[in-house]
Amino acid sequence: MTKRVFVKTYGCQMNVYDSGRIVDALGESGYTSAPDPESADLIVLNTCHIREKAAEKVYSEIGRLKHLKARDTDRPVMIGVAGCVAQAEGEEILRRAPAVDFVVGPQNYHRLPAIVSATGNGRRPVDTDFPAEDKFDHLPRTGVRRIRSQGATAFLTVQEGCDKFCTFCVVPYTRGAEFSRPVAAVLAEARDLVDAGVREITLLGQNVNAYHGAGPDGRDWGLGRLLEALCAIEGLARVRYTTSHPRDMDDSLIAAHRDLDKVMPYLHLPVQSGSDRVLDRMNRRHTRDFYLAIVDRIRSARPDLALSSDFIVGFPGETDADFEATMTLVEEVGYAQAYSFKYSPRPGTPAAEDSDQIPEAVKSERLQRLQDLLNRQQAAFNTSFAGRTMPVLFERSGRNPGQLVGRSPWLQAVQADAPQSLIGDLANVVVDRVGGNSLFARLAEPASETPFVAEATA
Ligand code: SAH
Ligand code: SF4
Ligand code: F3S
Repeated sequence: MTKRVFVKTYGCQMNVYDSGRIVDALGESGYTSAPDPESADLIVLNTCHIREKAAEKVYSEIGRLKHLKARDTDRPVMIGVAGCVAQAEGEEILRRAPAVDFVVGPQNYHRLPAIVSATGNGRRPVDTDFPAEDKFDHLPRTGVRRIRSQGATAFLTVQEGCDKFCTFCVVPYTRGAEFSRPVAAVLAEARDLVDAGVREITLLGQNVNAYHGAGPDGRDWGLGRLLEALCAIEGLARVRYTTSHPRDMDDSLIAAHRDLDKVMPYLHLPVQSGSDRVLDRMNRRHTRDFYLAIVDRIRSARPDLALSSDFIVGFPGETDADFEATMTLVEEVGYAQAYSFKYSPRPGTPAAEDSDQIPEAVKSERLQRLQDLLNRQQAAFNTSFAGRTMPVLFERSGRNPGQLVGRSPWLQAVQADAPQSLIGDLANVVVDRVGGNSLFARLAEPASETPFVAEATA
C-alpha cells in the first residue's frame, strides 16, 4: 500500500516552497500527496513562529488532529512538526503535545526519510541541528509532476536565513545564518520549473536581495546579476522576488528593474516604521530618509513600479509622534498593497525584554488607523487601472464557467472571460471594472488571434 502525506503550511512563502520540497523528500520513502489530513498516513505541520498567534495555531491544530491517531490502530497516523516553531521549540513540542511523533527544523528536510523511519515504537526524534551539509545538495530534484499540478507560477528559494537581527524578529534564530544557493543550482531548478510549464518564478529569501551566490565564474553574484541570467531562460515570462531589505537594494538590482522587462514592476520593500527613533531601536540599520531615497531611485529606474511593505505598530517605546511618522511615510510613498501587524513580543528577542511595552488598546487603535490608510491607498491604486490594457498571466479557472483568474504585473488578481486554453499563458486584457479584491477585465483581442502576447515593456 502506498503511504500518503498531507502537509499543512503556515507562515511565509518560504514555508510554501519548503512544503513542496518536504513532499518531494518524502517521495523517496514512498509517500505520495494526500488531498486532506483524513486520508493521510503522515501529517506534517509546517509552522511559523513570527508572531505569538502564528505559533499558537500549531498547538490548536494538533488538538484538532489528535482524534485521527485513535481512529485506526492498524494504520496509525503519524504527526510531524516542521518549520520555525519546530526550530524554536524543539523538544518542548513533544512535552506539550504528546500526539506529535517527530520534530524537524527547516534546515533538515533532506533528512526526512531517515527521521520518519526512525519514528515509532516509542521513538520520537527531534532534528533541529543546523547541519554542516547544505540541505539543497541532498534534497531530491524538484518533483516535475508536483510542479505541473501547481500550474504556471512557482516559488524558488535562492537565499535562506538572516544575519540582520532586527530586535523584534525570530527569523535569525529559526532559520539560522544567511546563506545563498549557487547560481548554477538556481538556474538548473528554474529550467526544471520552466520545462514543467512554469511561466512566472518568484525568487524567495528572508533577505532575498542580500543574495550573493557563487557564480559560474568563481565570483559571488548579486541578485541583479542572477535576475539577468534567469531572464535569459526561454519560456520564462515573468520574474519576481521577495522579501527585500532596504539596505540591500544595490545599483545592479535597481538597474535590473530598468533593463529587464521580465522583472515585474512590483516590489515588496518592508520599512516597518517611519520613525527614525523606532527604526533605530528595531536595529533596522537605516533611516526614514534612506528608505525614501531608495524608493525614489527605484521609481526613477522603473516609473510604473508599485510598492508594498510590512509595518509593525506598537513597537516598545513607540510614541504618538513615532506612529504619526509612520502615517506620513505611508502618505509620502503611496503603497499598492501592504501588511501591518501589532508588535508581538517573541521569546529570546531583545525587544521582548524592553520595559516600555505598548498597551494592547493603543496597538489596536494605531493598527486600525494605519490599515484604513493602507486600504484607501490600495483601492486608489486599483481604481487607477480602470479602462487600462495590461498583460495578465492566467493561472486557473474562475468561480463562474468561462472565467479565468490571473495576475497583473502588479500582482493584482484579474478575472476575465477567456477560453481554458489560455491557462498558463499571457494575454492582454482591458480592465472594465475594479472590485474589492480583483480587477474584472475582458480580453483585449479575440483569443484565437492572440494565443500569446509578449509582456508589455511599459
Ligand atoms: N525579512 C523581512 C521580514 C520577514 S518577517 C524583512 O526584513 O523585512 C515578515 C514580517 O513580519 C516583518 O516584515 C514584520 O513586519 C513582521 N514581524 C516580524 N516579527 C514581528 C513581531 N515580533 N511582531 C509583529 N510583527 C512582526
Ligand atoms: Fe527578521 Fe530583520 Fe532579518 Fe527581516 S531583516 S528576517 S525582519 S531580522
Ligand atoms: Fe514564519 Fe519562519 Fe517564515 S517564522 S514568516 S515561517 S521564516
